[in-house]
Amino acid sequence: MFTTMTNALTLPRSVEWNETSVSLLDQQLLPNKVEYIELKTIKDVWDAIVTLKVRGAPAIGITAAFGLALAAQQYHVQSIDTFRQKLAADQAYLASSRPTAVNLFWALERVVKSVANASSVNEAKTLVTHEAIQIQVEDEATCYRIGDYALSLFNKQDRIMTICNAGSIATAYYGTALAPFHLAKERDIPLQVFACETRPVLQGSRLTAWELQQSGVDVTLITDNMAAHTIKTKNINAIIVGADRIAANGDTANKIGTYGLALLAKAFNIPFYVAAPKSTFDLSIKSGQNIPIEERSAKEITHIADIQIAPDGIAVYNPAFDVTPSELITAIITEYGIIHAPSEETIGQSLT
Ligand code: MRU
Repeated sequence: MFTTMTNALTLPRSVEWNETSVSLLDQQLLPNKVEYIELKTIKDVWDAIVTLKVRGAPAIGITAAFGLALAAQQYHVQSIDTFRQKLAADQAYLASSRPTAVNLFWALERVVKSVANASSVNEAKTLVTHEAIQIQVEDEATCYRIGDYALSLFNKQDRIMTICNAGSIATAYYGTALAPFHLAKERDIPLQVFACETRPVLQGSRLTAWELQQSGVDVTLITDNMAAHTIKTKNINAIIVGADRIAANGDTANKIGTYGLALLAKAFNIPFYVAAPKSTFDLSIKSGQNIPIEERSAKEITHIADIQIAPDGIAVYNPAFDVTPSELITAIITEYGIIHAPSEETIGQSLT
């Protein structure tokens, strides 16, 4: 069913493992500079996640897994029990970086579990590194499959809206919500993308517009408050977004503004799709009510590029994510297929 990966994309990878350091595409500098920074310590990794130098649920998980591998390489211990204790402490430290994207906790847990049966420190060091690399390798294949399934939902010349950046740089490669656009480009299928700029930190204009432009996708940038008018005047056919955490019933946390787009999709009677890997599902959480929503610094709203645009002392509310109820979601696209009308039942059937 799937064509082989042609990998004709020329996008830079967001994260690379270098044995003694992690190379990270600094997403805070995009689109003006394409620059890599070297992360040498676990604190460098924690800081990079907190300051959004790397962001996007799968990329955060991959980077954190490499962060744990980096830390483990630097343990000077003899006993495997001490090794495991230090690994657990570093897992907790990295897990404190951001609260909403469940891929972070999932990836860290995978790395920690990989040493469950290790009998020596050397063996454990090899296992953690191997597991982190494996998470990245699997995510690329996963994203390709998501892109393939998502593309099957679109027709030639469709005009599709998206928000935030659920693209190649938010994952190992290809992306989730943006994967169908990269694949469409590789296969010469014309699609038109409308990207919301995504206030407050502009992942849409800085990252999605840049990423799609790099691979030659037809992309038009709009501000978030132009969404309704654009759906109407440009005859948008569908909306597709990524996810940071999906509860057992399908309620989906994603970048702030996603819920509003889902309501618009309902009002205009167009499909609203979520594209996400299995690692973004948190089946331990019954509904979106239990998803922790990160609130970030007021400065993200009061300033743009370090220029103050709001009065001193203004009260600010800055939730980074919102939760879209599953009844507003037409389908969730995973690497296992398309879950139409997501619910506890349909998700359970598809993923377990
Ligand atoms: O705050 P961010 O930039 O990490 O938020 C990212 C998103 O909301 C993405 O849509 C989501 O993580 C999916 S990335 C494939």
